[in-house]
Parts: sequence; structure tokens; C-alpha cells
Amino acid sequence: MPLVTTKKMFEKAYAGGYAIGAFNVNNMETIQAIVEAGKLENAPLILQVSAGARRYANPTYLKKLVEAAVIDSGLPIALHLDHGNSFELCKDAIDNGFTSVMIDASKYPLEENIRITEKVVEYAHERGVTVEAELGKLAGIEDDVNVADEDSTFTNPDEVYEFVSRTNCDSLAIAIGTSHGAYKFKGEPRLRFDILEKVEKLLPNFPIVLHGASSVPENYVGIINQYGGSMPGAKGVPEEMLRKAATMAVCKINIDSDLRLAFTAAIRKYLAENPSHFDLRQYLGPSREAVKEMVRHKLVNVLGCAGKAHEML
Ligand code: G3H
Ligand code: 13P
Ligand code: ZN
Repeated sequence: MPLVTTKKMFEKAYAGGYAIGAFNVNNMETIQAIVEAGKLENAPLILQVSAGARRYANPTYLKKLVEAAVIDSGLPIALHLDHGNSFELCKDAIDNGFTSVMIDASKYPLEENIRITEKVVEYAHERGVTVEAELGKLAGIEDDVNVADEDSTFTNPDEVYEFVSRTNCDSLAIAIGTSHGAYKFKGEPRLRFDILEKVEKLLPNFPIVLHGASSVPENYVGIINQYGGSMPGAKGVPEEMLRKAATMAVCKINIDSDLRLAFTAAIRKYLAENPSHFDLRQYLGPSREAVKEMVRHKLVNVLGCAGKAHEML
């Protein structure tokens, strides 16, 4: 099966009350870990590439690694551009075989966001590619997603219908209290499910995307802190909130930080326990294994998409 778009994935996920995991990829080991987990759990997958990943690994390498994953696994896999910040970047991804792109023009005023999104949608749809757009601003401290807490704003449900009907985008990322990175909440975690409910009513059957949806599991943060790291106050979105969102209109749940945490925890532990080892395969192997187990857990217990690969045929 070649790379697929997200169209059928989202139709099935919406109807079935589950979500597809969208995992950020930056290197071979992470791709192998996610795809191995997908194989073991027979799950559809979205592998997504950020602008930072393009700079780090070169999009051609990532594309070829993802193609290898498709051949190796036979799973339905979509290759998605994460946080494309311009028409040109989205066009480049589409021209180079990505099956899905995100145009993130959420930092612009509504009319400008609509104008840029419309342009990407027109180009993408002519080429059979699906488009995710964003309304509202998430807080976060990632390289290319640099929004300060005070600049973040929840999605205004009054704008979603007009935005989606005018742009014709295929899915919409909304801001309901999640944020990028490993420090999502200062106090108790809280998501604005009331906004999600309103959006769901205004846009029946329309797939919603949740960014910044890592759970920042305590066990990985604990291992990192135990073996020389320092991540005080790291906190993520509780798994039960994600599960609830997945039974609602949320069809795509973005996970990057949890991959980094699992990978880093395993490397720190391995190197601390084996100070004389310097063969990279020795410490990257356990990291790959840790990411695989973490992703399996998500597919089964959080996203609910385990065993659903056949639905995409
Ligand atoms: O949405 C943000 C992702 O975690 C990507 O982060 O820009 O550091 O690759 P990055
Ligand atoms: P996390 O930082 O919560 O993993 O979010 C990743 C993301 O939204 C990628 O677009
Ligand atoms: Zn994001």
C-alpha cells in the first residue's frame, strides 16, 4: 500500500470514536520504533515532519525513511507536514510527495489566515493532498512554534464555521488549553471541553486536531531526573482527557514530546549504567525499544486506534 492521505483515516476515526496518532519524526530510530509499534498493534499512523525536522535531517532523508517504513510494514501511513508556516513550504512538501500538509497561519488575523489557507487548499486538493489548518493560538516553546503563554488564545467557536466553509480545509486544529513541549500546566491540567463541544455541534462530522497532546509521563521524567537530567515541573495532558477527546470530534492527536522523553530517558539510563560503552547502536537500541513500547501504549490505551489498520483499505 502506498502512502495514504488522512481522508479515510479521519472518516473512520470520527465514526469509530477513536483518534489517529500523529507522531513527529526526526531520525531513523524513531521512525522504526513508531512503525514497529504500529505493526504490532495493526494501527494506522501519521508520521509528521516539522520545519525543525526538515532542517535537522533533510526532508529527502525523512521521506525515504518513511517510504521504507511503508514497504516494511504494509500499514496505512500518511506523511504529513507539521506546522507549515507558508504557502511555499506547503507547496514544497506537496511537490515532494507528502500526502497531507498543515498550513499554520494562526498567528495572522482571521482574514489573512483564511486567505493563506485557501491558497494551500486549492493547490493541495488539485493534487489529492489533504490540508489541516489552525484557528486559535497554542502556547509553546518549540523552535518554529514560538508562541509565548500570554499570546496564546483559545479558539473562538463563533469563527470555525466561516473558517472551514470558506477555506474548505479537511481538518482543523483548535486551541483548548493544550500547548507544545513538556511544561503544559502550572497548576491542575484543564482543557476547555466546552469549546470542543461547541465546535463539534457547529461542524458535524468534521475532524478536529489536537496539538500539544503529549502526556509527559512521570516515569520518563523520573528516569531523566534520576540519571542526571533536570526537568522540574514537567507536566502533560492526562491520558483520560485525551481518551475523552478521541471519543469526541478529535481525530488526530499530535505527539512529539513524549517520543523525546522516552528516547532521552532510555539513553540517559543506558549511558549512566554503562559508562564505558561508546557504540551508538548499544544506546540507540534501548531508546528505540522505549519509544516503541510508549507508542504501543498510546495506540491501545489512549488513541483507541489499535487493530484499525484494515478499516483504511
Ligand atoms: O509542534 C511542534 C513539534 O513538537 C515540532 O517541534 O519544531 O522542535 O521539531 P520542532
Ligand atoms: P507535544 O509537544 O505535546 O508532543 O505536541 C506536539 C505537536 O503538537 C506537534 O505538532
Ligand atoms: Zn503542533
